[in-house]
Amino acid sequence: MILSIESSCDDSAIAITEIESNKLLFHKKISQEIEHSVYGGVVPELAARLHAEALPKILAECEPYFDRLKAVAVTSSPGLAVTLVEGVTMAKAVSVALSIPIIGVNHLIGHIYSLFIEREVVFPLTLLLVSGGHTQVMEIKSLREIDTVAKSMDDSFGESFDKVAKMMGLGYPGGLPIQELAKNGNREAYKFTVPLYQSPLIAFSYSGLKNAVRLAIEDAGDDKEKYKDIAASFEHIAVKHLIVKLQKYFKTHPPKTFAIVGGASANLYLRSQIEKLLKSYHAKLLLSKLQYCSDNAAMIGRVAVDMYKSRMFSSLEELDISPKSKL
Ligand code: KG4
Ligand code: ZN
Repeated sequence: MILSIESSCDDSAIAITEIESNKLLFHKKISQEIEHSVYGGVVPELAARLHAEALPKILAECEPYFDRLKAVAVTSSPGLAVTLVEGVTMAKAVSVALSIPIIGVNHLIGHIYSLFIEREVVFPLTLLLVSGGHTQVMEIKSLREIDTVAKSMDDSFGESFDKVAKMMGLGYPGGLPIQELAKNGNREAYKFTVPLYQSPLIAFSYSGLKNAVRLAIEDAGDDKEKYKDIAASFEHIAVKHLIVKLQKYFKTHPPKTFAIVGGASANLYLRSQIEKLLKSYHAKLLLSKLQYCSDNAAMIGRVAVDMYKSRMFSSLEELDISPKSKL
């Protein structure tokens, strides 16, 4: 079995996965959303302190499994430096105490493997990763062959929902409240510009859209009824931007199997629009279960199982955190 730890942002999570069967034997997550909500975003130092409280509590519940652990895995990149360090320090302590190897896992590869929790992997795969920190299109041939073919130049897709929600006073994280508000709004009410529409670049940008939405909110003043239309029009354009760029990319790289992963892949409007787009390519769509879209340790454990089988261990002395991803 492998014990995996995730603390890259505001979720403290630990999982135990059986190596032979990929079976998830234990999984627990303590989220910090309520604590950060009043600030409209994650406060790194507060997050680190909350991880320091939560992780040991979850680890204590894993004690019955300790004598059957073959490795300990931990998210070491990307993420907030002060929170990554909490998980990595704990993983190193577990590695030393139980004399088992340590595996440093890239959080983005974790999101990819959220598709394969309790399942076998399906590669090759074209994939859209949409989270609070990332918006990228990736081509995956295997665990070791992962290419990023498009990225955001500024804010990420999920982050733009968080920022719009903050401007509307809806707390953090903003994805779900905006999705709920948008349900009853008119998607055509506000004509926001689709980012990079004329640009030949296959890249993403959300800062311009966010600023356009800011002006619309200021204009709406106290008229909260207008917020529904703003949310619906914003969600429509945020998703349309992804669809337009994917269409462009698919012209030269038609997808066979396509997946959406990351916390924001839970967005129902995005899911429906991607489903529509893929129909014309007769491509298969893979989605993670809703409970594994947002950050969790089960996905880190699932990557670690494949890394363990390929003997991709880290050196205890050299494993360090890296806030920026190499992918
Ligand atoms: O993957 P994740 O849990 O954390 C990161 O690795 O960043 O993603 C969290 C992000 C947040 O920005 C959150 O607002 C967004 O995913 N999110 C959504 C939805 N649910 C979560 N964005 C849009 N629609 C949703 N339904
Ligand atoms: Zn994530």
